[in-house]
Amino acid sequence: MIYRLIVVVSSDGFIAKYSGHLPYSWTSKEEKENFKKDLNCCEWSVMGRKTHELSYNNLRKRIIFTSSVEKYKYAGDNNILFNPSAISFAEVIDLIKPAKTICILGGTKIHDYFMDNDLLNEAIITIEPIKFGKGISLFTNFQWTDFPYFFLKKGFRLNRDCKKINKQGTRYYHFLRI
Ligand SMILES: NC(=O)c1ccc[n+]([C@@H]2O[C@H](COP(=O)([O-])OP(=O)(O)OC[C@H]3O[C@@H](n4cnc5c(N)ncnc54)[C@H](OP(=O)(O)O)[C@@H]3O)[C@@H](O)[C@H]2O)c1
Repeated sequence: MIYRLIVVVSSDGFIAKYSGHLPYSWTSKEEKENFKKDLNCCEWSVMGRKTHELSYNNLRKRIIFTSSVEKYKYAGDNNILFNPSAISFAEVIDLIKPAKTICILGGTKIHDYFMDNDLLNEAIITIEPIKFGKGISLFTNFQWTDFPYFFLKKGFRLNRDCKKINKQGTRYYHFLRI
């Protein structure tokens, strides 16, 4: 199973200015195209309850972090609500097998969960040339000045060199876990 983190950040490392601020409103055309491509290989996506509600799509297979259920609960055929304080992610995976690739789509606490539990195999980080000054960070207790060393220290390597994907200077990083 491949666990792939896909995230777009401002050039000072924020995933949003505030909870409810949608990436669609500040990301480039090229990022949106890459996001679709990278997401298409994923049978299931994982996200926090807020991100789920902000981008509601009942046709997509989603595992949604929430404290509102005791352990886990199906919401229709495609959504599984999951409380990580009650059961492990491995138990949720047993429900959806077989799945080859799972995409981790945020927000911060969901990034923390997968990084802290050593579950990520890949990380795709796109950096847009826009500064927020403050906002919601990529991980809790993470200094943006630590990028990209943070990933290297966690055992990732760059799959290809970082590439610029447009004239404005949007940068695309693809890390793989060694
Ligand atoms: N730039 C990007 O790539 C990117 C990616 C994703 C999201 N975003 C943006 O980020 C913002 C949302 O992020 P967010 O961090 O505020 O919210 P979020 O992670 O989407 O959702 C937070 C909610 O998830 C649940 N949750 C998270 N961790 C949990 C845990 N350990 N146990 C139980 N429940 C847990 C809780 O739901 P309950 O309240 O139901 O318990 C919590 O209120 C939005 O503006 C969104 O557009 C940006």
